[in-house]
Amino acid sequence: MHVVSLSNMRAFFYRAHIVRKRREKVGMKNTVATFQEMKAKGEKISMLTCYDYSTAKLMDEAGVNSLLIGDSLGNVVLGYEDTLSVTMEDMIHHTRPVARGAKNALVIADMPFMSYQASVYDAVMNAGRLLKEGRAHAVKLEGGAAVCEQIRAIVDAGIPVCAHLGLTPQSINAFGGHKVQGKSAEAAQTILEDAKRIEEAGAFAVVIECIPADLARKISETISIPTIGIGAGPGCDGQVLVYQDMLGLFSDFKPKFVKGFANLGEQMTQAFKDYDAEVKAGSFPAAEHCFKDVGEEVLDKLY
Ligand code: KIV
Repeated sequence: MHVVSLSNMRAFFYRAHIVRKRREKVGMKNTVATFQEMKAKGEKISMLTCYDYSTAKLMDEAGVNSLLIGDSLGNVVLGYEDTLSVTMEDMIHHTRPVARGAKNALVIADMPFMSYQASVYDAVMNAGRLLKEGRAHAVKLEGGAAVCEQIRAIVDAGIPVCAHLGLTPQSINAFGGHKVQGKSAEAAQTILEDAKRIEEAGAFAVVIECIPADLARKISETISIPTIGIGAGPGCDGQVLVYQDMLGLFSDFKPKFVKGFANLGEQMTQAFKDYDAEVKAGSFPAAEHCFKDVGEEVLDKLY
């Protein structure tokens, strides 16, 4: 007879509990409310940029909390040197497949340059399009005090807003390049003030980009909404990266804050070289890649 000891049973139930918890975590539907809960519990939030269906499915299955259709689309997908030329149509076009691929992740779509700056009316109507046509769950826009009216109006329309402070790429011409922000006492104070203002205006989260890590920690401790950092250190409530950067798929420039989690660029280049060589050598396609022959009898009848 097989005797199960008490300690074996305990170990079995403990393992089952861990597996269930892990499954619950991966299968958890992420919402603006779960973002709040995660901050309250001190759980870190993961976010990645995403621009298509297949990648959205992979990220979602991996348990990433949020997929951001960033206007970095302009750089890493469309090949522009900045984000300024990205249109509402571009954003909607790429938000739709991501929303179809994401079953659990919170889908956030960026509002592109000049889709919200000129008027509150533009801001509400364009945010609405990203939900209605793109099927995003929330929108992201850049700026602090200057866009609080827009944030308030979009939130009043029932659309969750993620703000974006620090290095805001749509203002690249005003900054004079990709520079770390908030380095002086005055600039740091402005960013902290902006963070308080966007929270008051109703934003549910804020991306903070390229600011000193201690300033990002101070902001994260001061406001009650989650901060999602990129180049802002470990003190933020979550982190976001452009996925082509973290997979080694984008070589035009590599910011200091990027960690390469894989080098798929090298693997892809090698695969493309192998394919090119096999096509040219006539070794691809091989028999196993071909459909059954129609046969001589059929071929002989063809004219
Ligand atoms: O557009 C984008 O990808 C972003 C992230 C860098 C946060 O805004």
